[in-house]
Amino acid sequence: MKTKLVAAQIGCGKFAWQQDLHNLSTRSDVTLKWVCDVDPGSARAAAGHFHVPEKTTDFMEIVNDPEVDFIKIATSHEAHLPIIEAAARAGKHIFCEKPMAMYDEEGWKIIRAVRRGGVKLCVDLNRRMSPAMQALRQRWLAHAASPKHHPWRYIEKVRELLPEENLPHLLIRIQDESSSYGLGHLNPLTGGGEIIGESVHWLDLACWFFAPQLPCEITAWGSSRLSHGIHLRFDRGACMTLDFSCSGTFDFPKELYEVTDNAALFRSLCFVENDYYGVPGLDREFFPLQEDPFPEMGDGEEAYMRKYRAHVENSTNSKLLERTRPMILDKGHLNMLDGFIRAVREDLPSPCDELAGFRATYLAQRAIESLELKRTLSVPVEKITPCIL
Ligand SMILES: NC(=O)c1ccc[n+]([C@@H]2O[C@H](COP(=O)([O-])OP(=O)(O)OC[C@H]3O[C@@H](n4cnc5c(N)ncnc54)[C@H](O)[C@@H]3O)[C@@H](O)[C@H]2O)c1
Repeated sequence: MKTKLVAAQIGCGKFAWQQDLHNLSTRSDVTLKWVCDVDPGSARAAAGHFHVPEKTTDFMEIVNDPEVDFIKIATSHEAHLPIIEAAARAGKHIFCEKPMAMYDEEGWKIIRAVRRGGVKLCVDLNRRMSPAMQALRQRWLAHAASPKHHPWRYIEKVRELLPEENLPHLLIRIQDESSSYGLGHLNPLTGGGEIIGESVHWLDLACWFFAPQLPCEITAWGSSRLSHGIHLRFDRGACMTLDFSCSGTFDFPKELYEVTDNAALFRSLCFVENDYYGVPGLDREFFPLQEDPFPEMGDGEEAYMRKYRAHVENSTNSKLLERTRPMILDKGHLNMLDGFIRAVREDLPSPCDELAGFRATYLAQRAIESLELKRTLSVPVEKITPCIL
């Protein structure tokens, strides 16, 4: 294996500038050789800023370059399938932004392309790789395997435990500010709405969190393109409830996670702090930011809020700030990239493979059907374990 893998970035929009172009161009084990965007100005700007030698508006130039080992895709969603099919046929490994596909048939075709090409595909459903979520799952698993309770815990002795008592539940509260949404996720042809574009993150997180349980039933309500809720039930009783409001504010963290199980609460506050309740001896944990302009201000949620205030103070454009002086939570992007590169180098399983990418898309599609029909729908096992070679 080469000491440096040769990479190409396809799609040079907002996300690529925030994560990919920086992350790929600063790694010592990767040479970022190409940038590609259908908009020549975007390709030119990315090549100039990140010192990338080759630029193009046609991804086939990259696919036909024998030096390229892997591509990173951060285009709009509908462009994934043709790029992945061509890249897999040419033996290139693929790191693809979420959602992997916009609907099930596209997902099946991507699975087929990747498996026939014998390449690795990693979908950037990054929450599962964030240090905070990894810790949350480990603490929950340890409690589930061997529950410990405070000596003062009160237990009523008048009845037996009921069958549906003490089942694990993951509550995900998202509050977001939709004024920031361009057409990205909203255009039905290229985005498909917030459930397909964003909630795939939390559908995937729930599947990863409760694995090996499989999702079996889904109920959704609200609007598929903006605010909505989803309840996902797993085959051995675990549940995830997502409450996603687009009427919130950037003045407060976007994501809150709470797991309850067997008289305990495991709580994660915007990827910087985990708090644990009901389990003796489990202390709170702090997690550093991916990019922190104020490390001297400390760690944890309170410090994060103070940092955020300092960050936006005197600014009139928070989006511009992201490029000039980034302050980025560690939502798992770097760990996912590490995991993908390790999978390619050492022929290991992808940290979020084509099946996981398909499942998130299928569940999102099923949630939209549920919301439109206003009823609970099954998640058939044959749909989430497709047999494709
Ligand atoms: N994992 C995450 O947390 C996360 C966060 C934000 C965005 N994203 C994902 O990143 C992707 C891009 O989002 P964005 O906000 O940067 O959008 P964007 O519109 O700013 O950028 C997309 C870019 O892709 C280019 N493009 C479209 N089709 C192309 C093609 N066929 N070949 C080459 N370039 C093409 C467009 O010209 C544009 O510059 C989306 O899939 C989004 O879901 C992921």
